[in-house]
Amino acid sequence: MAAAAPIAVCCSGRGTNLEAILRAIRRGSLRARVAVVISDNPRSGALVRARAAKIQTAVILPAKFPSREAFDKALARVIERSGARIIVLAGFMRILSPWFIRRFRGKILNIHPALLPAFAGANGVRDALAHGAKITGVTVHFVDEKVDHGPIILQAPVAVLEKDTQESLHARIHRVEHRLYPQAIQRGLAGRVRIAGRKVLIS
Ligand code: GRF
Repeated sequence: MAAAAPIAVCCSGRGTNLEAILRAIRRGSLRARVAVVISDNPRSGALVRARAAKIQTAVILPAKFPSREAFDKALARVIERSGARIIVLAGFMRILSPWFIRRFRGKILNIHPALLPAFAGANGVRDALAHGAKITGVTVHFVDEKVDHGPIILQAPVAVLEKDTQESLHARIHRVEHRLYPQAIQRGLAGRVRIAGRKVLIS
């Protein structure tokens, strides 16, 4: 059997999606190995989770770099050294430079807590709630030069309840994310995903 494919996971926050990815790997539903967890935030919970799982971590501090591209070059070096085949953004709160996107085109995945193209941006859950949406959800997509814009791999809906707060809605969205992201990564690694313009064809 082929060795599990190495992936790099980039996180800024709590890292519950990272945890879900690690769980799917342990269960065998995701045939991957997290080669490195990278964060721009030294206080990210994802780093704690990665260390507990004995996974290599790297912290890259934006303040140490003169430009976005300089940061992204450091990021690319860590990823390339790790041998990762794909880059999984899991709550990574940075916009990647065109240089970075060109270098890794078709290999960067992101998860967004809304049904894109609705409620793009950093506050997808808050914005769906404020808009009075009845249905929102989760999108896993390839990353391109525009924010929350690249070709969509998988989506799943989440109903908005009248009594929802941002916290309660995000908690239900997270549960769906934790199921959807490992599935999308597995399909990508298994070569079952092909980009055709804006469409992602899944075999
Ligand atoms: C998720 O809701 C994801 O959709 C968004 O950031 C959040 C990250 O959560 N991009 P976590 O750090 O994985 O818990």
